[in-house]
Amino acid sequence: QPANDELAGLHVLVTAGPTQEPLDPVRYLTNHSTGKMGYALAQEAQAMGAEVTLVSGPVALDEPDGVHTVHVQTAQEMFDAVHGHFAQADIAIMAAAVGDFRPEHRSEQKIKKTGGVMPPITLVQNPDILAWAGEHKRPDGSQLVCGFAMETQDLLANAQSKLERKHCDMLVANDLNEPGAGFAHDTNRVVILTPDTDKNATAGENGSKIHAEPQPLMDKRDLAAVI
Ligand code: C5P
Repeated sequence: QPANDELAGLHVLVTAGPTQEPLDPVRYLTNHSTGKMGYALAQEAQAMGAEVTLVSGPVALDEPDGVHTVHVQTAQEMFDAVHGHFAQADIAIMAAAVGDFRPEHRSEQKIKKTGGVMPPITLVQNPDILAWAGEHKRPDGSQLVCGFAMETQDLLANAQSKLERKHCDMLVANDLNEPGAGFAHDTNRVVILTPDTDKNATAGENGSKIHAEPQPLMDKRDLAAVI
């Protein structure tokens, strides 16, 4: 792809990958995210001339050249890193699959089998990083926040409500049931939602209008360029 400088002078913050929420020194809760979409976004933004900070959960990908990569493990660590970089960001794209819950207690020692009695594991909620960013945008509207939604049912309705609830300027929705979409694939098939004042747009939860643009099945790097 030809290089361009569409994002020159702008700072782009991207989150990518899963989080790991430790239970004890050898076990954690996580998900199937590989980080491919977020890394593609970081690479593409860098190629478009942006200064890029990539906050990445544990993935098996190489750090993109020319990108400032911050490695984190837990959702709380990802939140802290985003919190520290958000004020300088002109565009924030939250592509990470952040764990919604974490074990309330992290055992110092490996949890042992106890004669058929299962250890109780209490989960507590993690901070919602995207929602926090949506609430803390600069009041002058000079920051754009983009979220992702991965759904297995009611894709558009769930995505619309997410766009509104989390005060996003753009939401990239993918249906896990679509062939070639979602986790681990090199391709993705999404619908891009933006708030819209067009009278033909569909009305969302609070009567606000949403513009929905379905995209064809695409390589994640090409999709990154579109986003
Ligand atoms: O509500 P849901 O988890 O489906 O929202 C997905 C979007 O929110 C993604 O952009 C994801 O990166 C972001 N998110 C987040 N922090 C969380 C949960 C989700 O930033 N704790």
